[in-house]
This record gives sequence, C-alpha cells and structure tokens, in this order.
Amino acid sequence: MSKTAELSIDGKTYSLPVFTGTENESAIDIGKLRDQSGLVTLDPGYKNTGATKSAITYLDGDNGILRYRGYSIEELAEKSTFIEVAYLLIFGELPGKDQLQRFRDDIKIHTLVHEDVKKILDGFPSTAHPMGVLASLFCSQTAFYPESLDPNRASESIYISIIRSLAKMPTFAAWAYKNTLGHPVNYPDNSLEYCSRFMKMMFALPAEQYQPDPVISSALDKLLILHADHEQNCSTSTVRMVGSSQSSIYSSISAGINALWGPLHGGANQEVILMLESIVKDGGNIDKWIAKAKDKNDPFRLMGFGHRVYKNFDPRAKIIKKAADDVLAKLGVKDPILDVARNLEDIALRDPYFIERKLYPNVDFYSGIIYRALGIPVEMFTVMFAIGRLPGWIAQWKEMRENKEPIGRPRQIYTGQKERAYIPITKR
Ligand code: CMC
Repeated sequence: MSKTAELSIDGKTYSLPVFTGTENESAIDIGKLRDQSGLVTLDPGYKNTGATKSAITYLDGDNGILRYRGYSIEELAEKSTFIEVAYLLIFGELPGKDQLQRFRDDIKIHTLVHEDVKKILDGFPSTAHPMGVLASLFCSQTAFYPESLDPNRASESIYISIIRSLAKMPTFAAWAYKNTLGHPVNYPDNSLEYCSRFMKMMFALPAEQYQPDPVISSALDKLLILHADHEQNCSTSTVRMVGSSQSSIYSSISAGINALWGPLHGGANQEVILMLESIVKDGGNIDKWIAKAKDKNDPFRLMGFGHRVYKNFDPRAKIIKKAADDVLAKLGVKDPILDVARNLEDIALRDPYFIERKLYPNVDFYSGIIYRALGIPVEMFTVMFAIGRLPGWIAQWKEMRENKEPIGRPRQIYTGQKERAYIPITKR
C-alpha cells in the first residue's frame, strides 16, 4: 500500500503522497500542495529538498556510503578506470570489452579542438584563473557545434556531444594552464590514455621526449573516479537546472564548472593547500587555526572539513588519505604540509566543536596533497575536480533530458515592502 503523509493547517488536513526509493529513502511529494492549500515549502539551500528522482548515484551520508549505479566507490576506485566509470555513470551499466574499446576510440577521435579555440584562449590575460577559462572554452563549443543548441536531437547526435565533451575537456584544461604561463599549447597525443594524455599536454616542453609516469597516471585516474559523481550537489544541480531550460549540454556543463569554482564547493581543494601553507608559514601553531575556525566572529573555516550530506565520514576522503600516503611514498615525495594536515585532522576530530557539528575531512582535504605531489599547480586543483566530475554532469544532464523533467523554477516567500506610491526625485 502506498504511504501518505498528513499535513494539518488552519483546521484543514491535506494528504500528501510519500515516494520511496530503492534504498528505502522516503520523500513527501509536495508537488500538488500549493494547488490544494496555497502553501509552498521553504528550504533555503535546499537542505532537505529532493529536487529529482535519480538512478545514478546513491549516497548515504550517515553511514558514509557512496555508490555509482549500485557499485561501491571503494570497489570502483580499486578495480576500475576513469573511462569505464564514465561509461557506467552515463549509460547505466559497466561496458563490455568491445563497448569499452569503442568508447575509448571514439573519445580519442575527438580530443583535438578547433584551431579557432586558440584565438579565444589568446584573448585571456595570463592572470585569468583556469576555471574561468575552462568554463568559457567549454561553452564556446556551442559555437563550433551549433547543432548542440537543440537538446532534442537524435540520440546519436547527443552521443557525439557526450564524446566531444569527454574528449576535449583535458585539452581545454591543459590549455587553460598553459595560458597562465603564457606558453604555447600542446596538442593531444592519442597514443596515450586519458590521464597520460592530459599530463603530456600540461607538462611537455617543445622538443622534449615526454614520458608519462605510470604511477602519476594511475593516481590521477583514481582521483578522477572519486570525483566522478556526487548526486545533487551545487554544480550538478546547476547543470540540471540550466539544462532544464533546454539549454545545450555545453552551456549546461559550463554553468556547472562555474558553480564548482566557489571555495565552498570544488574550490575548497585549492583553499586547503593555501590554508596548510599559511599554517606552515605561520609557525605551525595548529591550535591557533582551530580556534579561528571555531570563532564565529572570524570568517575563517577549516577548509576541507564538513559536508552537507556526510555526517560521519566521507568515504572518498578515506580512500584519498590512503592514496596520498601511497603516492607520496612511491614518488619519494616528502611534503611538510602532509604532517600539518594529519595533525590538523587529529586535533579537529578530538575537538567538541567539530564532533558536535559532525565535521569530518571531506574529499578535498587530502586530494590537494596528491595533486601537489603529482606536480599539478594549485590553481589547477579545481580544474582537476572538474575533469573528474564531467561524467557525472553528463549523466545527470542526460537523465534529466530523458526523464523529460520540467524547467527548474523554485518559489519564494516575499519579505520586501508592501505596495507603496512612487516618490518623485524632488521630494526624496
Ligand atoms: N570549519 C568550521 N566550522 C564549520 C565548517 C568548517 N569547515 N563547516 C561547517 N562549520 C560549522 C558552521 O559554522 C555551522 O556552525 P553553527 O551550527 O554553530 O552555526 C555548522 O558547522 C554547520 O555548517 P553549515 O555551513 O550550516 O553546513 P552546510 O551543510 O551548509 O555546509 C559546507 C557544508 C561543506 C559548505 C561547510 O561544511 C564548509 O564550508 N566547509 C568548508 C569548505 C569545504 O571544504 N567545502 C568542500 C565540500 S566537499 C566537496 C564538494 O562536494 O564540493
């Protein structure tokens, strides 16, 4: 029997359907509440609002569970590859051998970007943050592929947009970095796999025989898997929201890149490293920084700590912490900020302020330390997150389109002035 919830107000009772998902999470469906009662719900930041039904990612914040299409993040991070995970997220099932090969080959065919993209890139000063450049270059694809402006195209045409997005993302990302240096760009080398190809575009110098390091490529691959989707977070909701107006896949994802950029979302990985460096420079007094984070008159927050959904631990952070130890050991890198990060974590996890508020290290706390060890500069950290999150954004955009979801348009409760007469300027 289907469940209902009763809402009583002003002596009237309304019966609201309850929807239950495959993992027994339940939601009160308030879709018709306004028609019945004139009421809307109020939930700033959508802290308790399910914006959609989705079959892509399952996240249980209380128990630290994260699964893509039913597969645990721990297993995927250990056994899979980023491209395989991208396929899984976007198409719903793990690919067979031939499907995976075709997917890889299709991506390789489209890694090159139109030469005119270089002209757009040239318009950016080298001071431009690579996230802004990445969002712009991504959106510029609407100009090179105008057919993408119609999201109701045939599925083969959507497939090509998906492939182009995955294929060109590392090219745009590496070019955005080259722009910060004022250096010429490198073209994609399709004899290499996804992560090695990206690293070569980032770091190869002219006339140099660049040898991708398998330790680095495999560490990067794992990081990308861990970032690949995270259900309805700020950037993903943005992608769905923008896409709901039937905007193209490129403009929807470009909007997601911009949403990810902020320091409370993907920008936190850059902020973590800047914070750890400041602590080291400041003499390493961790207690002082913990006190700052707890002081409500100080805007400082412990970056890389806390999460809207995870309230016990972030499973990605656990995997990344271990990976950071492994990668640094394999590469023979000794990084003083790793010790500061560990001490900071230890002290925070014993502090009642963080315990009471259930604040634990999130995915961004240790990822920056790995990126640093891999030689990736700090201003590129959020770009790395964007490369990882791309399959999730694509999968969520595709699902939103296939489910024929209505345009996203929340309500509000107006708290401004009541109607009043206009006062001419001479009388003000
Ligand atoms: N340092 C100090 N206090 C914190 C922190 C922090 N990092 N995070 C939350 N709090 C406090 C906050 O001040 C509030 O305290 P009180 O109840 O006394 O007012 C309480 O904890 C609840 O915080 P909130 O801001 O209401 O929680 P939220 O769910 O709105 O925010 C968050 C989640 C991730 C934005 C927040 O924890 C934060 O700003 N963390 C630092 C930035 C960060 O690491 N972001 C990356 C998130 S994971 C990657 C991703 O998916 O984007």
